[in-house]
Amino acid sequence: MTRLAVCKENDVRSGRGLRVTLNGEDLVLFRADGKICAVANNCPHQHFAKLHDGLYENGIVTCPMHGWSFDVRTGASTNAGGRLKTFPAESVNGTVYVDLTQE
Ligand code: FES
Repeated sequence: MTRLAVCKENDVRSGRGLRVTLNGEDLVLFRADGKICAVANNCPHQHFAKLHDGLYENGIVTCPMHGWSFDVRTGASTNAGGRLKTFPAESVNGTVYVDLTQE
């Protein structure tokens, strides 16, 4: 596992995503069930909408373009097809680390 520091845990607020770029990868960080979750920012539907602009509630982000929704903990769609790319993330001593080598 190659994890990289991406931000401070306090930067990730409840109820909204935090857009970050890590090694050129466009990501969004969310809080869900007290943990930090990292997902790809591009919606898997048509790959141009950005999920950091989407509605976020109770671990589910909804794409602002056509309303596809995804569980940020698993990447599973809750109302359509496709799967959101997820990355392992953890907070250690107030710093958030993301591993880009796994899905
Ligand atoms: S681009 Fe996200 S639902 Fe269509």
